[in-house]
Amino acid sequence: MNRPPLTKIAQQAVSRACRAHGRAIDATVGNGHDTLMLARCVAPDGRVVGFDIQPSALDHTRQRLNAAGLEQHVELINAGHEHMRDLLGDGWVGNTDIVMFNLGYLPGGDKSIITQPDTTTSALAQSLDMLRPGGLLSLMLYRGHPGAEAEIAAVTQWIETRSRSCNRPAPGCIWCGVLSHRRAQSTRSNR
Ligand SMILES: C[S@@+](CC[C@H](N)C(=O)[O-])C[C@H]1O[C@@H](n2cnc3c(N)ncnc32)[C@H](O)[C@@H]1O
Repeated sequence: MNRPPLTKIAQQAVSRACRAHGRAIDATVGNGHDTLMLARCVAPDGRVVGFDIQPSALDHTRQRLNAAGLEQHVELINAGHEHMRDLLGDGWVGNTDIVMFNLGYLPGGDKSIITQPDTTTSALAQSLDMLRPGGLLSLMLYRGHPGAEAEIAAVTQWIETRSRSCNRPAPGCIWCGVLSHRRAQSTRSNR
């Protein structure tokens, strides 16, 4: 039996935790597939904020949202996710249903621009402040590109440290998937 691509499994887990009228953060907007899915989940009255350091990714995603008539639910911010705590208002702290990370490089873009261990783990820590009790932190990591193993090691250590020291209810769940480069390519072509 064919298993759906991990990116789809992540989206299914996220949409189960998402609430209409809720709040969601797309920490890595990229080509906007996840942003669009989150916008659909929170409609008609919820909000999505998306971060990416590449303006071209945000432009592309804006077009995708416009085509779906969902742009009014989404604010796209051209900044690193490591600034989310400073850039989002207090209303997001402890009040966010989902924070979604899809790490690595922009498919179809410059493969040398990748998420980095330090900024990723800083953003993960800030995500825990954003999430409501029972919220979901979703993480997709990729193997195979230069820099991938260092990021996987840093994120794995961050998760292990958090689970040892976690003494508060948020988040309800961390969903984490790791794709190999070959599998990631076939996943992208399926999207
Ligand atoms: C794998 S892509 C994301 C795919 C996206 N979720 C989608 O559905 O198409 C990773 C993205 O992370 C972005 N990125 C890299 N460093 C970042 C940072 N510090 N903050 C936010 N985004 C970053 C890259 O520019 C790239 O567009």
